[in-house]
Amino acid sequence: MAAFPAMKISIATDAPQNLHTDWLVVGVSGKKPQLDPTVQKLDRAMNGALAASIKDESFDGKRGKTLSVQGRGRVKAKHVLLVGLGEAPVSEATLRLFGVKAGRAAMAQTQLVVLAPSSEPAKLRVVCEGVVTGAYRYTRYLTGARAPKKQLSKITFLVDSKASDEQKQAVHEAQLVADAVNFARDLVNCPANDLSATVLANHAAERSKLAGITCKVWDKKGIEKLGMPLLLAVNRGSKEEPRFIHISYKPKVADAPRVVFVGKGLTFDSGGLCIKPSGSMLDMKMDMAGAATTIAVVTLAAQLGLPVEVHGVVGSTDNMTGGDAYRPGDVFASRDGKTVEIINTDAEGRLVLADALAYARELQPTYLVDHATLTGACTVALGAYRAALFSNDNELCERYKQAAEQSGENFWAMPLDEDLKDELKSSIADLKHTGSRLGGAITAALFLREFVGDCRWAHLDIAGPAYLEKAQGIMPKGATGFGVLTALQLLRNLGAKTGA
Ligand code: BES
Ligand code: MN
Ligand code: ZN
Repeated sequence: MAAFPAMKISIATDAPQNLHTDWLVVGVSGKKPQLDPTVQKLDRAMNGALAASIKDESFDGKRGKTLSVQGRGRVKAKHVLLVGLGEAPVSEATLRLFGVKAGRAAMAQTQLVVLAPSSEPAKLRVVCEGVVTGAYRYTRYLTGARAPKKQLSKITFLVDSKASDEQKQAVHEAQLVADAVNFARDLVNCPANDLSATVLANHAAERSKLAGITCKVWDKKGIEKLGMPLLLAVNRGSKEEPRFIHISYKPKVADAPRVVFVGKGLTFDSGGLCIKPSGSMLDMKMDMAGAATTIAVVTLAAQLGLPVEVHGVVGSTDNMTGGDAYRPGDVFASRDGKTVEIINTDAEGRLVLADALAYARELQPTYLVDHATLTGACTVALGAYRAALFSNDNELCERYKQAAEQSGENFWAMPLDEDLKDELKSSIADLKHTGSRLGGAITAALFLREFVGDCRWAHLDIAGPAYLEKAQGIMPKGATGFGVLTALQLLRNLGAKTGA
């Protein structure tokens, strides 16, 4: 990576046909006339090649559809990509998708010029976030002929008039946001043999330093002293030490709301003694996606200087089968004090989270929000592309839904169904840690609720969308960085509301 120049993003007013570039990307409406005046001019410069291709390929301009046309010397761009914008009004989600398609097309080339569908700073920001996240690929382990030869390093957005300070700021912020999403993806895509809890904590420390915020890390001895019996229970089967991470950003404004994010940081989930079948285990390096999202969001809030106090709390270990591994039937204390009877060692996430949530609530947050790849049941309920949203607070639930609506990430509110609470009754301890197979995502959330006290809390089960078998919409194959955009939007909305 270091061999490539850093990405340079600028705003210009040139006519699209006059710029040398690998890819030129323009939006095309789903309604007639499909081409706006600037694109018509481009089409004329290309002797009508765009209109002809649109006709030949029956390109309908539907949202996210693409059509590429070669420049062949008719314009200075090597390739022109048409991206459907659907019918007006064009939403922010559509603009983001437009950007992602542009970035994806150009990811293995050097230069990209994008004719901005809107010059409005907020919309330019969304398009730019799309481009930089769309150009993401994970190449760390590719060598020889498969090692990347080029990387997108110059992006130009074309607008009607000379760039304003607001537009420049929008593009600058977009780059920070996209970088945070891509950072989370890199952590999640990294194989478990190169990403232990110790390495994860080092990344958190390094990123915190970059963002200028504090990062505290506890090693195994420190965690024993701090009092996290459930995190230690899950770690027993591992050769690797656990880590507990707390990063914090405090803005220089009085009375800022305080949001504490908690992330599940399982660097690998074998299932423990209740071992997973090999097919289910294959992708379990992704089980620290909640932690990755958490670290990305908190450091991003600091980089953007949001008027909200933001903390990130992560419990990290792998879940292995070593000779000292925890067993079904074991009983452990928790940081909160409640005792827990272990039923299935593959339900390790909620144990790690229980102690992390108990710690987080001591910070007296305005809102407490956890991200976790917690249950397979959640993916059965909602499919791979949507996360579950549980909350004990209606206002927070509404805020989250609104933020998701704005970010374009898909969530669905699920019930903390009191009828299922009995499933967590144990005859030997205060709590059993799993219920039956039915409603598995809900009983997991009910278990977590036991550890949040009277905090206003939201639990986001991101087991599905955190890691995908194939690209879908704005999300790439593999690690997606899911949750970063919505959490950021929540913080932006909170900051705006308080007027801080
Ligand atoms: N990390 C898994 C959940 C998961 C499954 C994430 C698939 C992403 C994709 C979690 O630790 C787990 O194993 N949950 C069990 C809980 C069960 C034993 C009660 C599950 O969902 O099967
Ligand atoms: Mn598990
Ligand atoms: Zn897990």
